[in-house]
Amino acid sequence: MGSTMTEDFNVRLVEDVKTYTPDPQYKKNAWMGDYQKAYNDFLADKDGFWAKMASELEWIRPWTSVKEWNYPYAKWFIKAQLNITANCLDRHVKGQRRNKAALIWRGENGAERIFTYQQLLGKVMRFANALKKIGVKKGDRVCIYMPLVPEQMIAMLACARIGAVHSVVFGGFGSAALKMRIQDASAKVVITADIGMRRGKTIQLKSIVDEAIVDCSSVEHVIVLRRQDPQIDLRPGLELDFREIMAGAPQECPAEVMDAEDPLFTLYTSGSTGKPKGIVHTCGGYMVGTYYTSKYVFDMKDEDIFWCTADPGWITGHSYIVYGPLAVGATVFMSELTPDYPDAGSYWGLIEEQKITIFYTAPTAIRMFMKLGEIWPNKYDLSSLRIIGSVGEPLNPEAFEWYYHVIGKDKIPILDTWWQTETGMHMITTMIGEPMRPGFAGRPIPGVEVDVVDKDGNSVPPGTGGLLVVKSPWPSMLRMVWKDDARYRVYWETLKGVYTVGDLAVKGKDGYIMILGRSDDIIVVAGHNIGTAEVESSLVSHPAVAESAVIGKPDELKGNSIKAFVILRVGFSSSDKLRQDLMYHVRMTLGPIAVPQEIDFVDKLPKTRSGKIMRRVLKAKEMGMDPGDISTLEE
Ligand code: WT7
Repeated sequence: MGSTMTEDFNVRLVEDVKTYTPDPQYKKNAWMGDYQKAYNDFLADKDGFWAKMASELEWIRPWTSVKEWNYPYAKWFIKAQLNITANCLDRHVKGQRRNKAALIWRGENGAERIFTYQQLLGKVMRFANALKKIGVKKGDRVCIYMPLVPEQMIAMLACARIGAVHSVVFGGFGSAALKMRIQDASAKVVITADIGMRRGKTIQLKSIVDEAIVDCSSVEHVIVLRRQDPQIDLRPGLELDFREIMAGAPQECPAEVMDAEDPLFTLYTSGSTGKPKGIVHTCGGYMVGTYYTSKYVFDMKDEDIFWCTADPGWITGHSYIVYGPLAVGATVFMSELTPDYPDAGSYWGLIEEQKITIFYTAPTAIRMFMKLGEIWPNKYDLSSLRIIGSVGEPLNPEAFEWYYHVIGKDKIPILDTWWQTETGMHMITTMIGEPMRPGFAGRPIPGVEVDVVDKDGNSVPPGTGGLLVVKSPWPSMLRMVWKDDARYRVYWETLKGVYTVGDLAVKGKDGYIMILGRSDDIIVVAGHNIGTAEVESSLVSHPAVAESAVIGKPDELKGNSIKAFVILRVGFSSSDKLRQDLMYHVRMTLGPIAVPQEIDFVDKLPKTRSGKIMRRVLKAKEMGMDPGDISTLEE
């Protein structure tokens, strides 16, 4: 937060920034309608606001009080009992939505699968029974490492059905990343598939699991969805076939009675150390938060068909492919196709084919579409769209304009939603119908209080950059970091009394918030959080590397790219071949998303006297900028 940055903001923010106001019909027809009124209602009675939202759902036993805030620990819907799958499935099967499509899936070569709510419930109950049969009990952890197929969603819901805690690991992670997550959660079962499919190629997921589970003593079984013909062999006893165990299971599986505060899942996110944090979300609060935002932020109606292009392996997929939309009773579209395969029109073709009404994607994808050109979307009929959204990193004004003009045809509202793995649900956006300001995510949604503060926690005026904080607890906030209370406390104790997000932001006029990027050692690459320390420790695990430092560099397409500086061990010398080897090593251990785009071989790294690598000095040098205060620099 140097002074030069602050001056820039002022210039940008006092200028009358462009706004776009959607057709008043949007506001008139939206579930929320009047943002300001809803926000004032929330401020007037905060617990009452959330109680009202929660009352739209089904509970086995109601709460005795809405929340218990014992700083920095929160509990929501005290003593209430529920099962989230009863709300996502049974609630609809009992009523008008029984034969409505819950899930429409598209794979490569025209493959299509459709599940009504009744069919999805049937599959979930059978798979839940199969899990029970192999000994999975309430509270046990189950790791799900699967491609983007319906069985991934079925596996998640089946865990939730019986109270097992799922830990979904994105199918793009490598074996070391998977191993660490299995070990940290002491997962009893790993659910996987033989292969994933990407751009016409197969990805051997099962062999990554084979490598990962060596030394994972907690793992009793690996369940494999076999997609290939001929089928791969399974190791008897240890490995089980997904469909076989399901076929032999009873059809009915009552939903386990869960306390609102029982854990629903853990999901790992990068932190400032090499070890990712297992973010824990609970059944009650998470259900209310994702239901509320699916209905009121996305404005989901029964006629909608909603497509979130994320993978369920990320929080975006947990909240807005699986739990939120199903709790609302929406039709979810999900696809294993990538935006550039079979050609650059693949997404637009799917929107036309399925008549998608709400489309949710990431700025990195939008910037890629921009580069590929308007000719691709212009080939297709996108008139079914009524809302388009963005998540994962700042939607820069250029990308906003392109999205609004080319995809939104100058009339469709854009929801730029700011949130995190830790928040579980949307926190800041511009509600449907409200004026949109390119570059600004918007204001806190009703139910959420945020501010931009200086390093002492004092609120800063509009136009001054600062740290984004959340000022009060919310139902879908993380409850703990798995087995690491100290790391949980950092969120609420970095600044007294507030939740420190780790992002830099600036308030504009009208309280609209512009997100500027991370303030810590996390690099957001194509919307994915990558810890510098994780990449550094992967590099150092290569026999040629003595030490390394990793920084993020602005990248037109991906927001940031990774650059690594490496000191070699004695006896090794730099070469292009070694550079390629190191990239391959990171790919195999962490996965393709963490691979550095550039690697420089160096003799020394800038360090503080206590030995901490000063990444910001490397970064400043890389970008030709003043490194700022280097008084703690060694030498
Ligand atoms: C970080 C959280 C929430 C799902 C995807 C990422 C960045 C997220 C926005 C946005 C600017 C954004 C932040 C945040 N981020 N959404 N609309 N505008 N930045 O979840 O992996 O937990 O990452 O993503 O830096 O802290 P995550």
